[in-house]
Amino acid sequence: MATINDNYLKLAGSYLFAEIGRRVAAFKEANPQADIIRLGIGDVTQPLPAACIEAMHKAVDELSHAETFRGYGPEQGYSFLTDAIIENNYTKRGISIDSDEIFVSDGSKSDCGNIQEIFGLNNKVAITDPVYPVYLDTNVMAGRTGTLQADGHFEGVTYLPCDASNNFAPALPKEHVDMIYLCCPNNPTGTTLSRAELKKWVDYARENQSVILFDAAYAAYITEEDVPRSIYEIEGAKDVAIEFRSFSKTAGFTGTRCGYTIIPKTVKGRAADGTLVEFNKLWNRRHTTKFNGTAYIVQRGAAAIYTPEGQQQVKELVGYYMENARIIREGLEAAGITAYGGVNAPYIWLKTPNNMSSWDFFDKLLTEVNIVGTPGAGFGPCGEGYFRLTAFGDRENTLRAVDRIKTKLRF
Ligand code: MLT
Repeated sequence: MATINDNYLKLAGSYLFAEIGRRVAAFKEANPQADIIRLGIGDVTQPLPAACIEAMHKAVDELSHAETFRGYGPEQGYSFLTDAIIENNYTKRGISIDSDEIFVSDGSKSDCGNIQEIFGLNNKVAITDPVYPVYLDTNVMAGRTGTLQADGHFEGVTYLPCDASNNFAPALPKEHVDMIYLCCPNNPTGTTLSRAELKKWVDYARENQSVILFDAAYAAYITEEDVPRSIYEIEGAKDVAIEFRSFSKTAGFTGTRCGYTIIPKTVKGRAADGTLVEFNKLWNRRHTTKFNGTAYIVQRGAAAIYTPEGQQQVKELVGYYMENARIIREGLEAAGITAYGGVNAPYIWLKTPNNMSSWDFFDKLLTEVNIVGTPGAGFGPCGEGYFRLTAFGDRENTLRAVDRIKTKLRF
């Protein structure tokens, strides 16, 4: 009989957002009249920018004529998109990225999950706690961890606690680690690392020959000057960091799917025989073997955000969600709830009142005021006692949700 990958059995029953979906569906079935407001999964609600729609329509028309039809494109992305990304997100910020250091994909969730395939199984993984579950779950699936312990930690993983006591900035690990996942702006806490904090990590990685896997999916939401938009703004980072970026939250592509990963050729790891190998080469081999490129129509849509109209429209879109973030944060504070984040990120991370567990708070919010959020414990043991609300709802629902929390929720 065929055997299974036993590592999958180490994981919690279902992926966090699948579990939330299951609980909400059960509640809805039992309470069909409930007017549920969903501020759980960070899914966008506003339409794609007009410039993207126009470019995508045009691309569809091109595909309808033999002379302009396109089949397989370059797996790494069309140059009309990669050139625009490099120019706007890197060159303009004084960072030099070569055209063969960028890989367009169907979104950064896939890339963040798949990147671990090009690392040896014996690498020691460090993740911040709490954190986006994809980093840990995919390393568990690969067999880079032991089993789940009673305290909620996986054996063999270095957890970097982040809570209000350290201002959500993780301390450097005491032991040596090889792969370091950093998410900045952070999902779920909505907090960021300053230039000085990030430099500490780059210096650590250089000294320890580690690689930083830097998820910057929410970079478009940074408002404060001292927060780097890219890890490559830190000197020396190009030797030790891989960066993930996404159009999902920047321009509403959660359903359309497009993201990209930067792997500088200077980021290297050691082969079993001791030779140094570029991770870029390995990822290129993986990408061309397992992926046939992001849809042409989607790449045309993504490239349109770099036109002057596209830039203006994206600015408005991000501004819309950040106004929701302000409304939620200030509303929570007015309700006497301590809240973090929401200044450089579209997530608000609140401290559950009366030290309630985060799943209990999830149930309370759902059953008493029909609002769906995300329990902090779903992002790691240090998320216990916290809860995440997303600013990606529409304005009306955001205002209604805050009003319900202020006027109807009782502690
Ligand atoms: C979240 O809610 O954490 C995100 O939507 C998940 C994702 O981007 O995959």
